[in-house]
Amino acid sequence: MDKLVIHGKNPLSGTVDISGAKNAVLPMMTAALLTEGVTTIHKVPDLRDTRTMIRLLKIIGAGIEFIDGTIKIDSSTVNKLEAPYDLVKTMRASFYVMGPLLGRFGEVKVSLPGGCAWGPRPVDFHLMGMQKLGADVSLEQGYILAKGLKLKGTNICFDFPSVGATGNVVMAAVLAEGTTVIENAAREPDIVQLCEMLNMMGANITGLNTNTLTIEGVRELHSAEITVIPDRIETGTFLMAGAALGNITLNHAEPNHLQIVLDKLEECGARYKAEHEKIHIQKADEIKAVDITTEVYPGFPTDLQAQWIALMCAAKGQSIVTDTVYHDRFTHIPELNRLGAHISLHDNIATVAGDASLKGAQVMSTDIRASASLILGGLMAEGQTDVSRIYHIDRGYEKIEEKFRSIGADISRISE
Ligand code: EPU
Repeated sequence: MDKLVIHGKNPLSGTVDISGAKNAVLPMMTAALLTEGVTTIHKVPDLRDTRTMIRLLKIIGAGIEFIDGTIKIDSSTVNKLEAPYDLVKTMRASFYVMGPLLGRFGEVKVSLPGGCAWGPRPVDFHLMGMQKLGADVSLEQGYILAKGLKLKGTNICFDFPSVGATGNVVMAAVLAEGTTVIENAAREPDIVQLCEMLNMMGANITGLNTNTLTIEGVRELHSAEITVIPDRIETGTFLMAGAALGNITLNHAEPNHLQIVLDKLEECGARYKAEHEKIHIQKADEIKAVDITTEVYPGFPTDLQAQWIALMCAAKGQSIVTDTVYHDRFTHIPELNRLGAHISLHDNIATVAGDASLKGAQVMSTDIRASASLILGGLMAEGQTDVSRIYHIDRGYEKIEEKFRSIGADISRISE
Protein backbone atom coordinates (compact mmCIF):
# COMPACT_ATOMS: atom_id res chain seq x y z
CA MET A 1 0.00 0.00 0.00
CA ASP A 2 1.36 3.43 -0.91
CA LYS A 3 1.65 6.35 1.43
CA LEU A 4 2.48 10.02 0.92
CA VAL A 5 5.34 11.53 2.89
CA ILE A 6 5.15 15.30 3.25
CA HIS A 7 7.61 17.72 4.78
CA GLY A 8 5.51 20.77 5.43
CA LYS A 9 5.86 24.53 5.36
CA ASN A 10 7.36 24.83 1.88
CA PRO A 11 6.06 27.90 0.06
CA LEU A 12 4.15 27.04 -3.12
CA SER A 13 4.59 28.87 -6.40
CA GLY A 14 4.06 28.08 -10.06
CA THR A 15 1.36 26.69 -12.29
CA VAL A 16 -0.86 23.62 -11.99
CA ASP A 17 -2.97 22.16 -14.80
CA ILE A 18 -6.41 21.16 -13.57
CA SER A 19 -7.72 17.80 -14.80
CA GLY A 20 -11.13 16.94 -16.19
CA ALA A 21 -13.86 16.56 -13.57
CA LYS A 22 -14.25 13.11 -12.02
CA ASN A 23 -17.89 13.63 -11.14
CA ALA A 24 -18.70 14.81 -14.65
CA VAL A 25 -16.87 12.09 -16.56
CA LEU A 26 -18.27 9.11 -14.65
CA PRO A 27 -21.93 9.63 -15.67
CA MET A 28 -20.79 10.75 -19.13
CA MET A 29 -19.04 7.42 -19.60
CA THR A 30 -22.24 5.58 -18.71
CA ALA A 31 -24.27 7.84 -21.02
CA ALA A 32 -22.26 6.27 -23.86
CA LEU A 33 -24.25 3.07 -23.15
CA LEU A 34 -27.34 4.79 -24.55
CA THR A 35 -26.18 4.61 -28.16
CA GLU A 36 -24.90 2.00 -30.58
CA GLY A 37 -22.46 4.60 -31.84
CA VAL A 38 -18.95 5.36 -30.62
CA THR A 39 -18.70 8.11 -28.01
CA THR A 40 -15.50 10.12 -27.74
CA ILE A 41 -14.67 11.97 -24.53
CA HIS A 42 -11.58 14.18 -24.21
CA LYS A 43 -9.75 15.33 -21.08
CA VAL A 44 -10.68 12.20 -19.16
CA PRO A 45 -8.69 12.18 -15.91
CA ASP A 46 -6.68 9.00 -15.34
CA LEU A 47 -8.07 8.09 -11.92
CA ARG A 48 -8.82 4.90 -10.07
CA ASP A 49 -12.51 5.73 -10.49
CA THR A 50 -12.30 6.22 -14.26
CA ARG A 51 -10.34 2.94 -14.46
CA THR A 52 -13.05 1.24 -12.38
CA MET A 53 -15.71 2.62 -14.72
CA ILE A 54 -13.73 1.32 -17.71
CA ARG A 55 -13.67 -2.15 -16.10
CA LEU A 56 -17.39 -1.98 -15.51
CA LEU A 57 -18.19 -0.87 -19.07
CA LYS A 58 -16.00 -3.69 -20.40
CA ILE A 59 -17.88 -6.23 -18.25
CA ILE A 60 -21.12 -4.85 -19.72
CA GLY A 61 -19.65 -5.52 -23.15
CA ALA A 62 -18.60 -2.09 -24.41
CA GLY A 63 -15.39 -1.69 -26.41
CA ILE A 64 -13.07 0.85 -24.79
CA GLU A 65 -9.94 2.62 -25.94
CA PHE A 66 -8.30 5.05 -23.48
CA ILE A 67 -5.26 6.86 -24.89
CA ASP A 68 -3.72 10.14 -23.73
CA GLY A 69 -6.80 11.39 -21.92
CA THR A 70 -9.22 10.53 -24.73
CA ILE A 71 -11.63 7.69 -24.30
CA LYS A 72 -13.64 6.06 -27.07
CA ILE A 73 -16.58 3.94 -25.96
CA ASP A 74 -18.21 1.61 -28.45
CA SER A 75 -21.50 0.42 -26.98
CA SER A 76 -22.66 -1.52 -30.05
CA THR A 77 -21.44 -4.73 -28.42
CA VAL A 78 -23.15 -4.37 -25.02
CA ASN A 79 -24.40 -7.80 -23.96
CA LYS A 80 -24.43 -7.99 -20.15
CA LEU A 81 -26.86 -5.72 -18.35
CA GLU A 82 -25.28 -6.00 -14.93
CA ALA A 83 -23.07 -4.07 -12.50
CA PRO A 84 -21.50 -6.60 -10.11
CA TYR A 85 -21.10 -6.10 -6.36
CA ASP A 86 -17.29 -6.16 -6.56
CA LEU A 87 -17.21 -2.98 -8.60
CA VAL A 88 -20.19 -1.16 -7.07
CA LYS A 89 -18.74 -1.63 -3.58
CA THR A 90 -15.51 0.09 -4.63
CA MET A 91 -17.24 2.90 -6.54
CA ARG A 92 -20.84 3.93 -5.90
CA ALA A 93 -20.91 5.84 -9.20
CA SER A 94 -21.22 2.40 -10.83
CA PHE A 95 -24.91 2.85 -10.03
CA TYR A 96 -24.99 5.30 -12.96
CA VAL A 97 -25.26 2.38 -15.40
CA MET A 98 -28.81 1.79 -14.20
CA GLY A 99 -30.52 4.65 -16.07
CA PRO A 100 -28.86 4.14 -19.47
CA LEU A 101 -29.16 0.32 -19.51
CA LEU A 102 -32.78 0.44 -18.39
CA GLY A 103 -33.52 3.18 -20.93
CA ARG A 104 -31.91 1.40 -23.88
CA PHE A 105 -32.50 -2.29 -23.11
CA GLY A 106 -35.51 -2.27 -20.78
CA GLU A 107 -33.74 -4.11 -17.97
CA VAL A 108 -30.76 -3.92 -15.68
CA LYS A 109 -29.32 -5.60 -12.60
CA VAL A 110 -27.15 -3.44 -10.37
CA SER A 111 -25.71 -4.30 -7.00
CA LEU A 112 -27.21 -2.14 -4.29
CA PRO A 113 -24.38 0.05 -2.96
CA GLY A 114 -23.68 -0.57 0.71
CA GLY A 115 -22.69 2.16 3.12
CA CYS A 116 -19.74 4.31 2.21
CA ALA A 117 -16.69 5.17 4.29
CA TRP A 118 -18.53 7.87 6.22
CA GLY A 119 -22.00 6.34 6.58
CA PRO A 120 -25.15 5.33 4.72
CA ARG A 121 -25.80 6.87 1.32
CA PRO A 122 -29.22 5.71 0.13
CA VAL A 123 -30.34 5.39 -3.51
CA ASP A 124 -34.09 5.63 -2.86
CA PHE A 125 -34.52 8.69 -5.12
CA HIS A 126 -32.93 6.82 -8.04
CA LEU A 127 -35.31 3.91 -7.53
CA MET A 128 -38.37 6.14 -7.08
CA GLY A 129 -37.49 7.87 -10.37
CA MET A 130 -37.18 4.57 -12.27
CA GLN A 131 -40.49 3.36 -10.80
CA LYS A 132 -42.25 6.59 -11.78
CA LEU A 133 -41.00 6.06 -15.34
CA GLY A 134 -42.82 2.71 -15.24
CA ALA A 135 -40.04 0.29 -14.32
CA ASP A 136 -40.63 -2.66 -12.03
CA VAL A 137 -37.98 -2.43 -9.35
CA SER A 138 -37.15 -5.27 -6.97
CA LEU A 139 -34.31 -6.36 -4.72
CA GLU A 140 -32.86 -9.86 -5.07
CA GLN A 141 -29.84 -11.05 -3.13
CA GLY A 142 -28.42 -7.57 -2.79
CA TYR A 143 -29.07 -6.63 -6.40
CA ILE A 144 -31.63 -4.14 -7.71
CA LEU A 145 -33.49 -5.53 -10.70
CA ALA A 146 -35.25 -2.92 -12.79
CA LYS A 147 -37.40 -3.91 -15.74
CA GLY A 148 -39.44 -1.74 -18.04
CA LEU A 149 -39.47 -2.29 -21.77
CA LYS A 150 -41.58 0.79 -22.42
CA LEU A 151 -40.66 3.57 -20.03
CA LYS A 152 -43.14 6.46 -20.10
CA GLY A 153 -42.49 10.13 -19.42
CA THR A 154 -43.74 11.38 -16.08
CA ASN A 155 -43.43 14.13 -13.47
CA ILE A 156 -40.87 13.56 -10.75
CA CYS A 157 -40.01 15.81 -7.82
CA PHE A 158 -37.02 14.87 -5.68
CA ASP A 159 -37.10 15.50 -1.92
CA PHE A 160 -33.52 16.73 -2.29
CA PRO A 161 -31.69 17.73 -5.49
CA SER A 162 -29.56 14.59 -5.63
CA VAL A 163 -26.76 14.69 -8.20
CA GLY A 164 -26.74 10.94 -8.83
CA ALA A 165 -30.51 10.48 -8.92
CA THR A 166 -30.91 13.39 -11.32
CA GLY A 167 -28.25 12.02 -13.67
CA ASN A 168 -29.57 8.48 -13.51
CA VAL A 169 -33.21 9.40 -14.06
CA VAL A 170 -32.35 11.79 -16.92
CA MET A 171 -30.44 8.97 -18.64
CA ALA A 172 -33.41 6.62 -18.21
CA ALA A 173 -35.86 9.25 -19.46
CA VAL A 174 -34.12 10.37 -22.67
CA LEU A 175 -35.39 7.31 -24.56
CA ALA A 176 -38.76 7.08 -22.76
CA GLU A 177 -42.00 7.75 -24.56
CA GLY A 178 -43.30 11.29 -23.96
CA THR A 179 -42.26 14.06 -21.63
CA THR A 180 -40.53 13.75 -18.27
CA VAL A 181 -40.29 16.73 -15.95
CA ILE A 182 -37.84 16.50 -13.05
CA GLU A 183 -38.37 19.11 -10.36
CA ASN A 184 -35.88 19.85 -7.62
CA ALA A 185 -33.25 18.45 -9.98
CA ALA A 186 -29.56 18.91 -9.24
CA ARG A 187 -27.88 21.70 -11.21
CA GLU A 188 -24.26 20.91 -10.42
CA PRO A 189 -21.99 21.63 -13.44
CA ASP A 190 -21.46 17.85 -13.74
CA ILE A 191 -25.18 17.34 -14.36
CA VAL A 192 -25.36 20.28 -16.76
CA GLN A 193 -22.55 18.76 -18.78
CA LEU A 194 -24.20 15.34 -18.77
CA CYS A 195 -27.37 16.94 -20.18
CA GLU A 196 -25.33 18.86 -22.77
CA MET A 197 -23.69 15.62 -23.85
CA LEU A 198 -27.04 13.84 -24.09
CA ASN A 199 -28.39 16.70 -26.22
CA MET A 200 -25.33 16.38 -28.48
CA MET A 201 -26.28 12.70 -28.82
CA GLY A 202 -29.76 13.67 -29.99
CA ALA A 203 -31.69 13.92 -26.71
CA ASN A 204 -34.08 16.78 -26.10
CA ILE A 205 -33.49 18.16 -22.61
CA THR A 206 -34.33 21.72 -21.65
CA GLY A 207 -33.96 23.63 -18.40
CA LEU A 208 -30.21 23.05 -18.12
CA ASN A 209 -28.68 25.11 -15.28
CA THR A 210 -32.06 25.23 -13.51
CA ASN A 211 -33.79 22.99 -10.96
CA THR A 212 -36.42 21.85 -13.46
CA LEU A 213 -35.37 19.62 -16.31
CA THR A 214 -37.79 18.75 -19.10
CA ILE A 215 -36.97 15.74 -21.22
CA GLU A 216 -38.85 15.00 -24.42
CA GLY A 217 -38.18 11.35 -25.15
CA VAL A 218 -36.57 10.49 -28.50
CA ARG A 219 -36.35 7.17 -30.35
CA GLU A 220 -32.58 6.81 -30.38
CA LEU A 221 -29.32 8.55 -29.64
CA HIS A 222 -26.18 8.75 -31.75
CA SER A 223 -22.43 9.27 -31.36
CA ALA A 224 -21.00 12.45 -29.86
CA GLU A 225 -17.64 13.95 -29.05
CA ILE A 226 -17.15 16.13 -25.97
CA THR A 227 -14.46 17.51 -23.65
CA VAL A 228 -14.88 17.15 -19.88
CA ILE A 229 -15.20 20.33 -17.82
CA PRO A 230 -12.41 21.19 -15.37
CA ASP A 231 -12.61 19.53 -11.96
CA ARG A 232 -13.93 22.22 -9.62
CA ILE A 233 -13.10 20.19 -6.52
CA GLU A 234 -9.48 19.67 -7.56
CA THR A 235 -9.38 23.39 -8.38
CA GLY A 236 -10.80 24.26 -4.95
CA THR A 237 -8.28 21.99 -3.22
CA PHE A 238 -5.33 23.74 -4.92
CA LEU A 239 -6.89 27.16 -4.26
CA MET A 240 -6.93 26.39 -0.54
CA ALA A 241 -3.30 25.24 -0.67
CA GLY A 242 -2.48 28.51 -2.44
CA ALA A 243 -4.42 30.57 0.10
CA ALA A 244 -2.34 29.03 2.90
CA LEU A 245 1.08 28.73 1.32
CA GLY A 246 1.62 30.32 -2.00
CA ASN A 247 1.23 32.26 -5.12
CA ILE A 248 -0.04 29.84 -7.72
CA THR A 249 -1.86 29.79 -11.03
CA LEU A 250 -4.38 27.15 -11.98
CA ASN A 251 -4.70 26.51 -15.71
CA HIS A 252 -7.70 24.89 -17.40
CA ALA A 253 -9.81 25.90 -14.41
CA GLU A 254 -13.37 27.24 -14.54
CA PRO A 255 -13.74 30.12 -12.06
CA ASN A 256 -17.48 30.40 -12.76
CA HIS A 257 -18.04 27.01 -11.13
CA LEU A 258 -16.41 28.11 -7.88
CA GLN A 259 -17.63 31.61 -7.17
CA ILE A 260 -18.63 30.95 -3.57
CA VAL A 261 -15.28 29.30 -2.82
CA LEU A 262 -13.40 32.25 -4.34
CA ASP A 263 -15.55 34.66 -2.30
CA LYS A 264 -14.82 32.76 0.90
CA LEU A 265 -11.09 32.64 0.16
CA GLU A 266 -11.12 36.39 -0.38
CA GLU A 267 -12.90 36.80 2.95
CA CYS A 268 -10.05 34.81 4.48
CA GLY A 269 -7.58 37.37 3.19
CA ALA A 270 -6.30 35.55 0.08
CA ARG A 271 -6.24 37.48 -3.18
CA TYR A 272 -7.35 35.97 -6.45
CA LYS A 273 -7.65 36.94 -10.07
CA ALA A 274 -9.94 34.94 -12.34
CA GLU A 275 -9.52 34.94 -16.09
CA HIS A 276 -10.75 32.74 -18.88
CA GLU A 277 -9.88 29.18 -17.79
CA LYS A 278 -7.34 30.47 -15.30
CA ILE A 279 -7.24 31.45 -11.63
CA HIS A 280 -4.30 33.05 -9.78
CA ILE A 281 -4.32 32.86 -6.02
CA GLN A 282 -2.02 34.60 -3.61
CA LYS A 283 -1.82 33.63 0.01
CA ALA A 284 -3.34 35.59 2.82
CA ASP A 285 -0.87 37.48 5.02
CA GLU A 286 -2.89 36.14 7.90
CA ILE A 287 -5.74 33.69 7.33
CA LYS A 288 -8.97 35.01 8.83
CA ALA A 289 -11.47 32.57 10.29
CA VAL A 290 -14.46 32.25 7.96
CA ASP A 291 -17.52 30.08 8.54
CA ILE A 292 -18.99 27.99 5.74
CA THR A 293 -22.10 25.89 5.28
CA THR A 294 -22.18 23.35 2.50
CA GLU A 295 -25.15 23.47 0.17
CA VAL A 296 -26.04 22.10 -3.22
CA TYR A 297 -24.64 24.04 -6.20
CA PRO A 298 -24.02 26.96 -6.40
CA GLY A 299 -23.52 26.77 -2.64
CA PHE A 300 -20.26 25.74 -1.00
CA PRO A 301 -19.55 22.15 -2.14
CA THR A 302 -19.57 19.37 0.44
CA ASP A 303 -16.62 17.94 -1.50
CA LEU A 304 -14.52 20.89 -0.27
CA GLN A 305 -15.71 20.83 3.35
CA ALA A 306 -12.80 18.69 4.60
CA GLN A 307 -10.21 20.85 2.84
CA TRP A 308 -11.81 24.02 4.26
CA ILE A 309 -11.55 22.61 7.78
CA ALA A 310 -7.83 21.97 7.16
CA LEU A 311 -7.35 25.57 6.01
CA MET A 312 -9.26 26.91 9.01
CA CYS A 313 -6.90 25.10 11.40
CA ALA A 314 -4.32 27.74 10.49
CA ALA A 315 -6.77 30.66 10.66
CA LYS A 316 -6.75 33.40 13.28
CA GLY A 317 -9.64 32.48 15.54
CA GLN A 318 -12.55 30.10 15.58
CA SER A 319 -14.66 29.08 12.61
CA ILE A 320 -17.76 26.98 12.19
CA VAL A 321 -18.15 24.50 9.34
CA THR A 322 -21.60 22.99 8.78
CA ASP A 323 -22.32 20.23 6.27
CA THR A 324 -25.97 20.17 5.22
CA VAL A 325 -25.48 17.73 2.33
CA TYR A 326 -23.95 14.89 4.34
CA HIS A 327 -24.42 15.00 8.08
CA ASP A 328 -21.70 12.54 8.95
CA ARG A 329 -18.82 13.25 6.60
CA PHE A 330 -16.20 14.20 9.18
CA THR A 331 -13.75 11.31 9.48
CA HIS A 332 -10.90 13.72 8.73
CA ILE A 333 -11.41 15.54 12.03
CA PRO A 334 -9.69 13.07 14.39
CA GLU A 335 -6.86 12.75 11.86
CA LEU A 336 -6.39 16.54 11.61
CA ASN A 337 -6.44 16.64 15.42
CA ARG A 338 -3.47 14.25 15.33
CA LEU A 339 -1.61 17.06 13.53
CA GLY A 340 -2.38 19.35 16.46
CA ALA A 341 -5.64 20.89 15.28
CA HIS A 342 -8.43 21.54 17.78
CA ILE A 343 -11.65 20.62 16.05
CA SER A 344 -14.78 19.47 17.79
CA LEU A 345 -17.91 18.06 16.25
CA HIS A 346 -21.56 18.23 17.27
CA ASP A 347 -23.92 16.57 14.82
CA ASN A 348 -23.03 18.07 11.44
CA ILE A 349 -21.33 21.18 12.82
CA ALA A 350 -17.57 21.32 13.25
CA THR A 351 -15.97 24.00 15.39
CA VAL A 352 -12.39 24.70 14.38
CA ALA A 353 -10.46 26.49 17.12
CA GLY A 354 -7.91 27.97 14.71
CA ASP A 355 -4.46 29.35 15.61
CA ALA A 356 -3.07 25.80 15.52
CA SER A 357 0.64 25.29 14.94
CA LEU A 358 0.26 22.03 13.11
CA LYS A 359 2.97 19.43 13.64
CA GLY A 360 3.62 16.48 11.35
CA ALA A 361 2.27 13.04 12.34
CA GLN A 362 1.14 9.75 10.85
CA VAL A 363 -2.43 10.05 9.62
CA MET A 364 -4.79 7.85 7.67
CA SER A 365 -7.00 8.63 4.68
CA THR A 366 -10.61 7.57 5.00
CA ASP A 367 -12.14 8.88 1.77
CA ILE A 368 -11.19 10.98 -1.24
CA ARG A 369 -11.79 14.43 0.18
CA ALA A 370 -10.65 13.57 3.71
CA SER A 371 -7.34 12.52 2.13
CA ALA A 372 -7.06 15.87 0.38
CA SER A 373 -7.59 17.68 3.68
CA LEU A 374 -4.82 15.60 5.31
CA ILE A 375 -2.46 16.52 2.49
CA LEU A 376 -3.29 20.19 3.05
CA GLY A 377 -2.75 19.68 6.78
CA GLY A 378 0.61 18.02 6.08
CA LEU A 379 1.68 20.82 3.73
CA MET A 380 0.90 23.39 6.44
CA ALA A 381 2.46 21.40 9.31
CA GLU A 382 5.97 21.65 10.69
CA GLY A 383 7.98 18.46 10.07
CA GLN A 384 6.99 15.14 8.49
CA THR A 385 3.46 13.89 7.88
CA ASP A 386 2.80 10.42 6.52
CA VAL A 387 -0.60 9.99 4.91
CA SER A 388 -1.46 6.30 4.59
CA ARG A 389 -4.21 4.50 2.64
CA ILE A 390 -3.85 6.90 -0.25
CA TYR A 391 -5.72 4.65 -2.63
CA HIS A 392 -8.62 6.89 -1.62
CA ILE A 393 -6.92 9.97 -3.04
CA ASP A 394 -6.03 8.13 -6.24
CA ARG A 395 -9.75 7.60 -6.83
CA GLY A 396 -10.31 11.30 -7.38
CA TYR A 397 -7.09 13.27 -7.85
CA GLU A 398 -4.85 12.79 -10.86
CA LYS A 399 -1.12 12.74 -9.99
CA ILE A 400 -1.70 14.85 -6.90
CA GLU A 401 1.81 14.52 -5.50
CA GLU A 402 3.40 15.35 -8.87
CA LYS A 403 1.23 18.44 -9.15
CA PHE A 404 2.08 19.62 -5.63
CA ARG A 405 5.77 18.84 -6.16
CA SER A 406 5.81 20.91 -9.34
CA ILE A 407 4.84 24.00 -7.31
CA GLY A 408 7.44 23.46 -4.61
CA ALA A 409 5.89 21.06 -2.10
CA ASP A 410 8.07 18.41 -0.51
CA ILE A 411 5.82 15.41 -1.04
CA SER A 412 6.61 11.93 -2.25
CA ARG A 413 4.88 8.60 -2.70
CA ILE A 414 6.40 5.65 -0.91
CA SER A 415 5.40 2.04 -1.44
CA GLU A 416 5.09 0.38 1.94
N1 EPU B 1 -29.71 11.01 -1.06
C1 EPU B 1 -30.76 10.27 -0.62
N2 EPU B 1 -31.32 9.36 -1.47
C2 EPU B 1 -30.86 9.17 -2.73
C3 EPU B 1 -29.76 9.93 -3.18
C4 EPU B 1 -29.22 10.85 -2.31
O1 EPU B 1 -31.22 10.43 0.52
O2 EPU B 1 -31.41 8.34 -3.45
C5 EPU B 1 -29.09 12.01 -0.16
C6 EPU B 1 -27.66 11.62 0.20
O3 EPU B 1 -27.60 10.73 1.27
C7 EPU B 1 -27.03 12.96 0.50
C8 EPU B 1 -27.74 13.91 -0.46
O4 EPU B 1 -28.93 13.23 -0.85
O5 EPU B 1 -27.32 13.34 1.81
C9 EPU B 1 -26.93 14.25 -1.71
O6 EPU B 1 -26.48 13.09 -2.35
P1 EPU B 1 -26.26 13.05 -3.93
O7 EPU B 1 -27.16 12.00 -4.47
O8 EPU B 1 -26.37 14.42 -4.48
O9 EPU B 1 -24.78 12.54 -4.01
P2 EPU B 1 -24.19 11.48 -5.02
O10 EPU B 1 -24.78 11.66 -6.35
O11 EPU B 1 -24.21 10.14 -4.41
C10 EPU B 1 -22.30 13.05 -5.87
C11 EPU B 1 -20.82 13.01 -5.95
C12 EPU B 1 -20.25 13.13 -4.55
C13 EPU B 1 -20.73 14.44 -3.94
C14 EPU B 1 -22.26 14.51 -3.97
C15 EPU B 1 -22.81 15.83 -3.48
C16 EPU B 1 -20.40 11.67 -7.87
C17 EPU B 1 -19.89 10.41 -8.44
N3 EPU B 1 -20.39 11.77 -6.55
O12 EPU B 1 -22.68 11.95 -5.07
O13 EPU B 1 -18.85 13.18 -4.71
O14 EPU B 1 -20.29 14.55 -2.61
O15 EPU B 1 -22.73 14.29 -5.31
O16 EPU B 1 -22.36 16.87 -4.26
O17 EPU B 1 -20.79 12.57 -8.59
C18 EPU B 1 -16.59 12.85 -4.12
O18 EPU B 1 -16.30 13.18 -5.28
O19 EPU B 1 -15.74 12.72 -3.22
C19 EPU B 1 -18.00 12.61 -3.80
C20 EPU B 1 -18.39 11.94 -2.73
